[in-house]
Amino acid sequence: MKINEIKEESLRESIPSVSASTGIFLEMLAVLNGARNIVEVGCANGYATSYLIKAAIKNNGRVTAFEKDAPRRKMAENNLSGHIKSGILTLIEADALEVADRIPQNIDFLFIDAMKRQYRAILETFLPRLRNGAIVFSDDIYFQGVLDPSKTLDRHKSIVKGLREYLVYLDELEKNGTVKNYFYDYEDGMAATIIL
Ligand SMILES: C[S@@+](CC[C@H](N)C(=O)[O-])C[C@H]1O[C@@H](n2cnc3c(N)ncnc32)[C@H](O)[C@@H]1O
Repeated sequence: MKINEIKEESLRESIPSVSASTGIFLEMLAVLNGARNIVEVGCANGYATSYLIKAAIKNNGRVTAFEKDAPRRKMAENNLSGHIKSGILTLIEADALEVADRIPQNIDFLFIDAMKRQYRAILETFLPRLRNGAIVFSDDIYFQGVLDPSKTLDRHKSIVKGLREYLVYLDELEKNGTVKNYFYDYEDGMAATIIL
């Protein structure tokens, strides 16, 4: 399926896919980093995955994408079947935190777009599998009042708490020399974290 059609499906199915600008930004970062071993946690129907696949094709690499929701994983499989057949994409229907043995080693580029409460646990789990120089791109880090508690709705409080804990963790990792963070206040906020 064409990338625009996947976006239309996201809108129809109320799937919170990244914007086209963020997709292009992801693709650009992965290409510039020469990433060949690309992983996405939370691929839904595969919209952002399409941009990661474009980067993988340019870099002669591959993408592994985790999606725990069966209907969404099925949509991604239908939308990206050609890339699955050609071996560029491996789709894994699972909670990425529950299948440690299926996480690739020596990852060059990790896109985290999963449950916000799990961001810290996801990075802790993936950290030993990221090579030096890898980029971790975390979406929505400033979601719904992370920077301004007066903007946080009651129903978003635990999400915002999880994201604040994640930002503290990123800061700790930078202070102990494990990473360098670049925070970007665009849309709901994003972080590009380079593994040192
Ligand atoms: C915001 S959507 C992903 C959108 C997609 N990255 C895109 O931009 O096209 C988040 C998805 O992550 C999935 N998810 C959340 N936590 C997960 C986890 N721990 N492992 C795998 N999938 C997860 C959800 O089921 C949901 O479909």
